[in-house]
Amino acid sequence: MRNVSRGDFLNRTPANMSRNHRVFRSLPDACYLPDRPYSSHCNDECTRDNKLLRSMPGFVKIVEVGPRDGLQNEKDIVPTVVKVELIKMLVSSGLPIVEATSFVSPKWVPQLADAKDVMEAIRTVEGGTFPVLTPNLKGFEAAVAAGAKEVAIFASASESFSKSNINCSIEDSLTRYRDVALAARKLSIPVRGYISCVVGCPLEGVVSPSKVTYVAKELYDMGCYEISLGDTIGVGTPGTVIPMLEDVIDVVPIEKLAVHFHDTYGQALSNILASLQMGITTVDSSVSGLGGCPYAKGASGNVATEDVVYMLNGLGVKTNVDLGKLMLAGDFICQHLGRQSGSKTAIALSRIRSHASKL
Ligand code: HMG
Ligand code: MG
Repeated sequence: MRNVSRGDFLNRTPANMSRNHRVFRSLPDACYLPDRPYSSHCNDECTRDNKLLRSMPGFVKIVEVGPRDGLQNEKDIVPTVVKVELIKMLVSSGLPIVEATSFVSPKWVPQLADAKDVMEAIRTVEGGTFPVLTPNLKGFEAAVAAGAKEVAIFASASESFSKSNINCSIEDSLTRYRDVALAARKLSIPVRGYISCVVGCPLEGVVSPSKVTYVAKELYDMGCYEISLGDTIGVGTPGTVIPMLEDVIDVVPIEKLAVHFHDTYGQALSNILASLQMGITTVDSSVSGLGGCPYAKGASGNVATEDVVYMLNGLGVKTNVDLGKLMLAGDFICQHLGRQSGSKTAIALSRIRSHASKL
């Protein structure tokens, strides 16, 4: 099998496209650019025959964090009904896990003070799981009372960030989280663990892999079923992410790890690609690239889910996410927030669509 070159793509006629790849026609990126057919979707034969592409996982689980990580950072508080509609649209796009909200102090994060109401409103939504952040037992108990079936605890690899985000040291946070993990185990509630500042901290600068590995092992030992490694301020490149992952996988199996990249320096997709090549199969992202942490000033949003799905489609990696429906969810929240999407894919495809509608 020969490699498919860029020239091959450009030479394809619409007729060839539909004959050889009928699936292209139903995809949102199967548009004309403006008279050239192109789709990000990968021909299976490309991935099978290419040494580098063959190492890609067959399926990637996307954890959508927009309603929580995205909306926790908005200047204006988003009404509960908008949050609920967003969550429903994300689930209907095929996203299996949508982090819905946080049971944190409303004084610290007023944007998510309606956590109980959000959970009540999505109680009957089927087709997804809705983890929520819980910083302590108080938050855990409130989350369970509100119907949460999965929780996430969030520690940091940086001492200063731990203090500014959750007002305690790393060790104190781990003590609190052991209590949460124990209470969760008694109720058979799965616990996901986050680690912030896995390559850099807004207060301390460079964070060494050994600090991340220490916290990862603690979270794993207390029973977290998955540990999400967060580049909170989006400073990482594959040059720092790969050594960090290499260190962590010495103590936590790679299939128990997820990556969570903010995209401040535009490095998130390259970091995800490097992570996939190392064996990671779970990726956190946020619709339209919403997000940021109120306690990490200057950090931009998470990598956009639309961009992740576009890249994974291009790599022939399945996600079960319908990019068209996902873009509708992105349009919905961006319209509400009154700004353009932070997803390059969403912007490009919307432009192509509007161009096509004028032809
Ligand atoms: P504190 O002030 O040290 O708490 O905050 P405290 O135990 O001293 O209690 C003070 C008051 O808060 C008391 O109320 C408590 O009842 C109340 P008062 O008597 O004054 O009326 N309180 C709570 N209320 C509601 N829910 C609770 C709760 N706990 C105490 N769970 C605390 C400590 C952890 C609560 C606070 O610092 C906090 O809420 N921090 C949350 C910060 C946050 O949500 N940050 C963003 C999420 S992390 C993130 O985005 C990173 C991530 O995306 C990964 C990455 O990108 O790196 C996950
Ligand atoms: Mg985050």
